[in-house]
Amino acid sequence: MQTVGHFTAAAIRELVPDAHHVTMSNLHAAGVRSSQDRLLHHLLDAAVRHGVLALEAPGRWRLTEEPTPEAMFSALLADFPGDAVMTVTYGTCGQHLASVLRGDTDPLELPFSDSDAMATRFYDGTPVTTRPILLARRLLEHSVAHWPQDRPLRILEVGAGTGATTAVLLPGLPPQRTHYSYTDVSPAFLTRAKSRFTAYDFIDYQVLDLDRGPTAQGFLRHRGGVECVARHHRPRGDPAPDRRPARRRRTSTRARKPQP
Ligand SMILES: C[S@@+](CC[C@H](N)C(=O)[O-])C[C@H]1O[C@@H](n2cnc3c(N)ncnc32)[C@H](O)[C@@H]1O
Repeated sequence: MQTVGHFTAAAIRELVPDAHHVTMSNLHAAGVRSSQDRLLHHLLDAAVRHGVLALEAPGRWRLTEEPTPEAMFSALLADFPGDAVMTVTYGTCGQHLASVLRGDTDPLELPFSDSDAMATRFYDGTPVTTRPILLARRLLEHSVAHWPQDRPLRILEVGAGTGATTAVLLPGLPPQRTHYSYTDVSPAFLTRAKSRFTAYDFIDYQVLDLDRGPTAQGFLRHRGGVECVARHHRPRGDPAPDRRPARRRRTSTRARKPQP
């Protein structure tokens, strides 16, 4: 969190280089989107807790020292080499924080910006992502165990991305009666996934944009199947994240009861 505090202070210095004090109004005047206020307040709290910003009065802050996020980032990498993937991913986001706050950079794009390597390693191998994936696998195994033997098992994965969830789910599926639809809004992921999962011949790869409704795009027309929504996504028009039910934000598998 200390590194987060320093990334925040560095972003503030970049946004309002000459200001003696920082307020929400001068951050907004520097281009920070009001839609980012909630995130910004959390970040400012972290920076105050770690002493790189001081709260002078309610809603008014001042830098107390020169922020050194890059040095802290390097020290984290050296001290915790086992968490390097997570550190590099978060560090990449921290380096672009000012641009994210201004709305010039989509934070979801950052892990995918150079090649898919950082995103693949992040989704495949960090505790943040592996715990929900393992939970998804247990839920799916439960559904499969209770699925009638004579019915095909249709699985739709939405926002499958780099395939971290898929890689854990596939080995637990009976190949003879499984039909797996690997979908994402971005066709680039589908091309990479085809190479990654060549060993599984029961997968089809298709574009699905959840914002446009699955049935309109030819999905979920069969009765009975398992939908696996493995992404953090807010469909357009949904309430803000803080007002969403928590289950919308988690990896989930939902079994749809087979119909006669
Ligand atoms: C959190 S990542 C998914 C992580 C995934 N489990 C993996 O292993 O890479 C979110 C995914 O949702 C996809 N996505 C974003 N907007 C979408 C939309 N409107 N419809 C479907 N997928 C979308 C992104 O392309 C990205 O692959």
